[in-house]
Amino acid sequence: MTARVFLNGQWLPADEARVSVMDRGFLFGDGVYEVIPVYSRQVFRLEQHLARLQQSLDGIQIANPHRPEEWIGFVTQLAGQAEWEDQSIYIQVTRGPMAVRNHAFPSEIKPTVVLLAEPMSPPPASQREQGIAAVSAADIRWLRCDLKTTSLLANCLLRQLAVSAGCVETVLFRDGFLTEGSASSIFVVKDSVLLAPIKNHLMLPGITYDVVLELAAQHGLPHEVRDITEGETRAADELWMCSSTKEVLPIVTLDGRAVGSGVGAGGTPGPLFAQMYAWYQEFKATVMRAAP
Ligand code: PDD
Repeated sequence: MTARVFLNGQWLPADEARVSVMDRGFLFGDGVYEVIPVYSRQVFRLEQHLARLQQSLDGIQIANPHRPEEWIGFVTQLAGQAEWEDQSIYIQVTRGPMAVRNHAFPSEIKPTVVLLAEPMSPPPASQREQGIAAVSAADIRWLRCDLKTTSLLANCLLRQLAVSAGCVETVLFRDGFLTEGSASSIFVVKDSVLLAPIKNHLMLPGITYDVVLELAAQHGLPHEVRDITEGETRAADELWMCSSTKEVLPIVTLDGRAVGSGVGAGGTPGPLFAQMYAWYQEFKATVMRAAP
């Protein structure tokens, strides 16, 4: 059976859904998106993802084409009908088609709205147990990384650096400070304190980032949200990456050098990672149990 996708108010088999080549999303990357995890058909943190979608739409001046209740209806319907229990739901809203190619916005727009589901499996246990390798790079993106826009070329190039080096993620530094990963938020652990970069225009306000900080607060893990230098990142006891599709993963090498130098550390996942991973799974299970 072909997966069904939502396109501008219609549910269609994926291979029948068509968008104009004049769509500004296609020609300019003029759109925003969300990726929302679904566990056992329960949508995780939907309200927060829809709030961030609204912020992204406001940031690029597109009036939200749907009310929150409508979005909730579309997402819930998709999560219920897709063939997989665990999914990631993709939402994209572009500024829609234009009559002639012109960078300036058309005076009237008809946003293109797409929702589709993909199967989601947790990262392989080996990545969690042995950790992952990362490379670093200068953050070459624009200055509105807080908006989840579909203009992802820089993120794609940066992610490919990791893949070409046989690694999983690229850790980004701008002007000597840690920003985030090419498709994830990054945390540092130093002297048993969890450090998180401050949310600003240089990083995406990650939904998983918020969950990790909430769990740290709830369980009394000392944590600080502050600027983190490249030097501090390289001298970390532990480095973590997190995102909606990867949850939390330990980075054990950065640019080929082991992360952490304590006894038993260095190239292996640290103890606070194991703790946070357990809290994360427990939290997910509680949320799913509480769902109707
Ligand atoms: N990306 N930073 C960037 C640049 C990202 O692309 C992502 C996630 C995150 C983590 O955000 P969240 O915890 O809300 O997923 C941080 C998604 C998964 C993607 O583009 O597929």
